Amino acid sequence: MSRFQATLDAVAAAMARETERGAPASYIPELAGVDPSRFGVAVAPVDAARPPAAAGDADVRFSIQSVCKVFMLTLALERAGDALWRRVGREPSGDPFNSIVQLEHERGVPRNPFINAGAIVVADVLLADRTPEAAILDVLTLVRRLCGDEGVGCDARVAASEARTGMRNRALANFMAAEGNLRHPVEQVLQVYFHCCAIAMSCRQLAAAGRYLAAAGRTGGCDPVITPQRARRINALMLTCGHYDASGEFAFSVGIPGKSGVGGGILGVVPGVASLAVWSPGLNAKGNSLIGSKAMAMLAARTGWSVF
Ligand code: DON
Repeated sequence: MSRFQATLDAVAAAMARETERGAPASYIPELAGVDPSRFGVAVAPVDAARPPAAAGDADVRFSIQSVCKVFMLTLALERAGDALWRRVGREPSGDPFNSIVQLEHERGVPRNPFINAGAIVVADVLLADRTPEAAILDVLTLVRRLCGDEGVGCDARVAASEARTGMRNRALANFMAAEGNLRHPVEQVLQVYFHCCAIAMSCRQLAAAGRYLAAAGRTGGCDPVITPQRARRINALMLTCGHYDASGEFAFSVGIPGKSGVGGGILGVVPGVASLAVWSPGLNAKGNSLIGSKAMAMLAARTGWSVF
């Protein structure tokens, strides 16, 4: 049994007792009906080749939403190298994930790759004059390799639901296109973005997939994915920008790089130690998982995993 099992069981039991659980995202109608009583947690230590230790609903697949931006960025950096940073910044925005306000003052260059505008530029990089299907398959291929499960895919109903209602993302993309920061047609770029957000994974798969960020850029099988420097830099961006205008709060209460999604998942990275994933679909006012954030704080307190 994993050395983390007792801690994970204790966290799952404590989270099951929580009565205030937030509400699932409703602006993507397909996500609104997910049961807020769900909770899963998984930890993938860097020094164990075993499958991640887990508790609760850790094998139930959920929509990873903005957590996909970590994998998209990883791939875009491999494709475009540091030239990417001419089109996307590396500063926290201090604004909600779907905000448009800074784009006008900053010539259509998003503050960072984790807000929606930034991930839409990253999707444009991934398109690279190919079909949206080819770009989506690239991201899926990376994620499948990282978690060692060929069965990971996109939830077509979630992607269609977001495509029907994604007017804010269309506004962001059109504004950036007007400023010359998109190279492909807006609808193709958004098709890539929506499908990446609609990737469905379990906590156990997500913790395994994020392990390369804790392991200096290498998978569980020790294959290099990215350089140690790039892994460090992605972690830095997760810490400073991974929870949007709640990134400071997450650093304060948890103290590790993390990336949240409106599906209620959070990927956390403890460099040199482990990657972890939590999921609970009810969100707080900033669009991050309410119970997931509490669980991360409890885990960090019990393990001493804060990087500070
Ligand atoms: O673009 C959107 O609004 C969603 N597909 C992703 C947003 C998201 O997950 C924000 N994270 N907390």
